[in-house]
Amino acid sequence: MNILGISAFYHDSAAAIVVDGEIVAAAQEERFTRKKHDAGFPQHAVAYCLEEAGLHPDQLDFVAFYDKPMLKFERLLETELAFAPSGIRAFVMAIPVWLREKLTMRRMIRNGLPGKTKSPLLFMDHHESHAASAFFPSPYEEAAILTLDGVGEWTTTACGVGRGNRIELYRHLQFPHSLGLLYSAFTYYCGFKVNSGEYKLMGLAPYGTPVYADAIYKHLMDLKPDGSFWLNMDYFNYCQGLTMTNRRFDDLFGGPPRNPETSIEQRHMDLAASIQAVTEEVVMRMGRDLHERTKMRHLVLAGGVALNCVANGKLLREGPYDDIWIQPAAGDAGGAVGAALFTWHQLLDKPRSTNGRDTQKGSFLGPAFSQEQIRNFLDRKGVQYTCIDDEQAHAEYVAELLQQEKVVGWFHGRMEFGPRALGARSIIGDARSPKMQATMNLKIKFRESFRPFAPVVLQEHAHRWFQMREGQESPYMLLVAPVLERHRVAISHEELEKMSRDPDLRQRVNVVRSSVPAITHVDYSARVQTVDRERNPGFYRVMETFYKMTGCPVLVNTSFNVRGEPIVCTPEDAYRCFLATEMDALVLENFIVLKSQVKEGVVDDETRAEYLAQFQLD
Ligand SMILES: [Fe+2]
Repeated sequence: MNILGISAFYHDSAAAIVVDGEIVAAAQEERFTRKKHDAGFPQHAVAYCLEEAGLHPDQLDFVAFYDKPMLKFERLLETELAFAPSGIRAFVMAIPVWLREKLTMRRMIRNGLPGKTKSPLLFMDHHESHAASAFFPSPYEEAAILTLDGVGEWTTTACGVGRGNRIELYRHLQFPHSLGLLYSAFTYYCGFKVNSGEYKLMGLAPYGTPVYADAIYKHLMDLKPDGSFWLNMDYFNYCQGLTMTNRRFDDLFGGPPRNPETSIEQRHMDLAASIQAVTEEVVMRMGRDLHERTKMRHLVLAGGVALNCVANGKLLREGPYDDIWIQPAAGDAGGAVGAALFTWHQLLDKPRSTNGRDTQKGSFLGPAFSQEQIRNFLDRKGVQYTCIDDEQAHAEYVAELLQQEKVVGWFHGRMEFGPRALGARSIIGDARSPKMQATMNLKIKFRESFRPFAPVVLQEHAHRWFQMREGQESPYMLLVAPVLERHRVAISHEELEKMSRDPDLRQRVNVVRSSVPAITHVDYSARVQTVDRERNPGFYRVMETFYKMTGCPVLVNTSFNVRGEPIVCTPEDAYRCFLATEMDALVLENFIVLKSQVKEGVVDDETRAEYLAQFQLD
């Protein structure tokens, strides 16, 4: 039985195909259209999923959409009525779009599907899609479920239980009381983009002190012991206006919102630290309460807030659960997988078995390209390359480049599903190099970031480098853990001063504070991804070879893109990005292209500026 899941029309559209209960393929539309967070109908992603599964559109048994558009419309209407007349402006702007597009969703989806398929179209509940995406692919037979996001139809948080092939959600928080929207309000106020800059705010938090946490509890929210809360809507504008926060919010936190791209002050760092602390407290309380009610040993998470890997790491270390599994595409893209799996298990009552491993396949669910396709592409371009078919010789070649502090574009196997690059479309480098952070930021990503890069570590070495239990996995880069004391280095008085006071955050983050400085944040934390042989053997081999050469099982891993660009999908995308940046080498499966060998095509400053200009700043 073939079920196509679709998430679309809000943020980060995606498609997924589930064949007889197995996730065969999943991809976000942005990777094909090269438009970040593309919210249009995912026609390319749908076409890819069908092709990967070898299906004609007629062979689809069901098409499952990830939420219920009519309920969303109802929320909009009722919110307008509750806040009229001040909400009228937002309402008047939104309603023609809704009337034109969202209420005719059924027709839009049908028109978007190839081949005018007649298969039944099902609409899931938004948080049931999130919950299904978290529980059904998880390695657990039974688990507590927590979904947290901005808002679906009405729900912003849902709690429940998954057992075997069924999930049951029994407690909900409803709009406008939303942890996701609260975090987004601070993201907006601190000058970052809502729905994508939340990750930056989380990265800014370690520079600050949570001095505003008390003000948040006192004025903005009424937080209960079980983690549920009411927000005081006097401070927010998202129900009635076109901004997240209002004047009263400004007054409480000492001024107007920060303009994007302007300097970041200590106040913003403290605000980031404060909302992060509050978020962690809410997640901890919810997690504990859910554990008391369900007595489950395991917890699964999804929804945009589940991408807050600092809160996840804390919940795992300090919370009541033996283990936690988080859907890697925790945001709305993952709803496509959830909707399809919900149809299979819950609606069709198909059994589910577990064997201790998750069924997300490392989230390597996107397109792969054959050696022949890559060779043809490179030959067509007239690019000089080295092809190494022997796996070990190939790994040694790449590890050698890394040891020479080269920055390597690594393109291998099926593309990742979800926002993180996990070793299929990654840029990698030597984490020990003190200059790696600055090089990657300025010459590769073209951003001036205050955030360090994420580490990849060989699974069996993770607990020797980071505060993690032996055997603890983090294959999806969704858990933050501190770098162990033994790998930290003594910091001189002068550097300490720089670390705490320098107004230029890049100077602070560049202070060497561990033997792997490129991945160590100012508070010694790191967004850990563990790499195992089973999920990604090719990447594992390179890391293992690097470890044998250097004694270091850690590399820097960042997504294969420049600032604002969706992660590369095809060899063409990767080659274009390679040429536009100062990347030293490009590994396209068995083919290795060195920048020093590329005679033509390396772009000048003007062409590079043009390349960068096509992507909106994120
Ligand atoms: Fe959502």
